[in-house]
Amino acid sequence: MDNRQIWNDVDDYLNPLFAPDDDVLTAALRDSDSAGLPQIAVAPNQGKLLQLLAGLVGARRILEIGTLGGYSTIRLARVLPADGRLVTLEYEPRHAEVARGNIARAGLDMVVEVRVGPALDALPLLLDEEQFDMVFIDADKENNPHYVEWAVKLTRPGGLVVLDNVVRKGRIVEPGNCDPDVVGTRRALELMAHHPRLDGVAIQTVGTKGHDGLAIARVLD
Ligand code: SAH
Ligand code: DHB
Ligand code: MG
Repeated sequence: MDNRQIWNDVDDYLNPLFAPDDDVLTAALRDSDSAGLPQIAVAPNQGKLLQLLAGLVGARRILEIGTLGGYSTIRLARVLPADGRLVTLEYEPRHAEVARGNIARAGLDMVVEVRVGPALDALPLLLDEEQFDMVFIDADKENNPHYVEWAVKLTRPGGLVVLDNVVRKGRIVEPGNCDPDVVGTRRALELMAHHPRLDGVAIQTVGTKGHDGLAIARVLD
């Protein structure tokens, strides 16, 4: 038994107050649904939190790993100046195509670039580019430890690394759970906690997306 009903009721109260989906975000979810994409975008308030965090670090360059239909991408890209840049990495060509449509409708196609393919292939190429102010990791969870390592390399001192879905209904603390996504997420959390160049925290969340959580860390000099 969980308290899903009350979590939903609270989100239904909080989200219209602080994080209402505007027409562009609503259309992004609608087009993602009609294309058959899974309904695993961040919740409205989580998207707004990402936007606030990006604003707080004065982000001009953002990296996202895991685009889906571009819902979180749109939230993040909204803080960018006209000459800013968001690179988002997506494995599935069909997801990338839906995302590109949603990003163009949001008027963000000049600042957002969707790169299609396995993120682990794309990440090394980014070493040659300017460092990022923020990295949002939200793709295949078994590779989370690799993504955290790359994020530290690719983020400027003072920048932020954010890792999504770190609680997974509490599955990360189930002793016998050896699912690759759970193992990958545990390793990534331990890496973040002990990394000499990271200072972070992880919090669990409840709401319309169930029981989950996110980890946030600042990159040190
Ligand atoms: N950030 C999105 C949700 C991303 S869902 C949002 O909140 O709106 C996770 C995405 O990661 C899916 O679209 C999936 O296709 C993608 N993905 C899975 N494995 C990947 C990989 N190896 N490289 C890049 N993207 C991957
Ligand atoms: C899943 C992935 C996500 O990125 C998310 O936010 C929720 C669920 C999943 O693979 O189930
Ligand atoms: Mg996620």
